[in-house]
Amino acid sequence: MNIAVLGYGTVGSGVVEVLKTNYKSIAKRAGEPIDVKYVLDLRDFPDDPIQEKIVHDYNVILNDDDVKIVVEVMGGTNPAYTFVKQALLAGKSVATSNKELVAKHGSELIAIARENNINFMFEASVGGGIPIIRPLMNSLTADEIEEISGILNGTTNYMLTKMSEEGAAYDDVLKDAQNKGYAERNPEADVEGYDACRKIAILTSLANGRQVDFEDIYTEGITKITDKDFKYAGKMGKSIKLLATSKCENGQIYAYVAPMMIGQEHPLFSVNDVFNAVFVKGNMLGDTMFYGKGAGKLPTASAVVSDIVEEVKHIHTNIKVEWQPEKLELSDMKQAVQRFFVRVKKTCPQSEVSRVFGQVQFVSVDGLDDEYAFVTGAMKEAEFDEKIAGLSGVITRIRYTQLSAE
Ligand code: HSE
Repeated sequence: MNIAVLGYGTVGSGVVEVLKTNYKSIAKRAGEPIDVKYVLDLRDFPDDPIQEKIVHDYNVILNDDDVKIVVEVMGGTNPAYTFVKQALLAGKSVATSNKELVAKHGSELIAIARENNINFMFEASVGGGIPIIRPLMNSLTADEIEEISGILNGTTNYMLTKMSEEGAAYDDVLKDAQNKGYAERNPEADVEGYDACRKIAILTSLANGRQVDFEDIYTEGITKITDKDFKYAGKMGKSIKLLATSKCENGQIYAYVAPMMIGQEHPLFSVNDVFNAVFVKGNMLGDTMFYGKGAGKLPTASAVVSDIVEEVKHIHTNIKVEWQPEKLELSDMKQAVQRFFVRVKKTCPQSEVSRVFGQVQFVSVDGLDDEYAFVTGAMKEAEFDEKIAGLSGVITRIRYTQLSAE
C-alpha cells in the first residue's frame, strides 16, 4: 500500500517515523506493508533520507493511481481543504490531524468519501494520541451521549497546573510554556480557548450526528485567571481547569469552553500537565474517561497511523460516519444552570452579597486582606449576570462546577 504525506513538520515526520519503527507489526495489522511513496513539502531536507520522496507539486500525488491514501498533516484550512477534497474526489482515502479542517469542513468531506466509497478519518484531530473519535463512532453507539467534557488543550492545562501547584503568575507560566515549546509565540489559539473550541465542535457534531458550527460555541480562555484565584481554589480543595463541554439538559444542547473551578470528585480533577482527557457520559454506560497525550510528535502520529491502518483494511469500503451537514442549533449558554465563584472587594459588605444572592458560601484567604470570595447556589447564567450587575466591587467570577449532583 502506497501512501503520500502532505507536510513534513512535527506530525508529518512523526508519521514517517511511526511507520518505519513499527513497519512489521503495522503490516500485520493492516494485512499488507504500508510504504510512504511521496512527502509533499515546500522545503527540501538535504540531510534527511526523506529527501528522495519529497515532491513540491501536489499534482504528482494526485495523478499517481498507485497512491491510495493521502495523509494531510499540514494544519490550517488553506490549502489543506483544497488538497483533501481533490484527493477524495480522485478516489483516495484521507487521514488528517487537522482540527480546523475537520471542524469547518468535516461533514462535507465525510459525504464526499461516502459517495466515492472511500474514507475520511481524523482520529488525531481531537486529543492527539487519545482514541476518542473511533470510540465515539464505533463503540459508544448503544448510548445517547448526555455529556462530553474534556481537557482538550495541553498547553493551557500545563499552565494551569503550574499555577495551581507552584502558585506561579499567569505571565510567568506562559513564558515557561513558550520556552518549553508548548505554547506558540502567539499563544492566542491556546490561551483564548479557540483550539479547544474546534475540538469540542468536532466531538459534539459526532455525538449528535449533525453539524455544530464552532462559531456558535461560547468560548472563554484562561487569560483572566490569576494566582489569586488559585489561592481560593486551593483553600477550597478545588482546581481550575479549562474545560470544553457539550451536554444535553432537558432536551437542550449546550456547548462551551471556559475555565471551571472543579472539585476532587470530578473525573477531570487529576488530569495535569500537558495531558488531555475526555469524560463521556452515556445514558446506558454511565461515566467513561479517555486519558493520554493530547499533542506531540509521536502520540499524534500514532493516531494518524491508526487511521491509515483502518483505511488500508477498508480500502474499498466506506465506514459510515454519522455527521450530517444539517446544522445543530445550540441553546443559549445564558440559560445553562451553573454555580459561580465570585471575588469581591471588602468595600462590598457580605450582607449585600447575601441580600442579592441568598445563601452563599463565603471564603477568605490569608494575605488577600482587601477582598473575599463567595460561591453561589445553582442558577441560570442569565440570572447570575443580572444579580452580579447590582453588586459593587466585583473583581472576577469563575464558573464553579459542572456536576449536576453537587
Ligand atoms: N496546541 C495544542 C495543545 C496542540 O496545546 O493541546 C494539539 O492540538
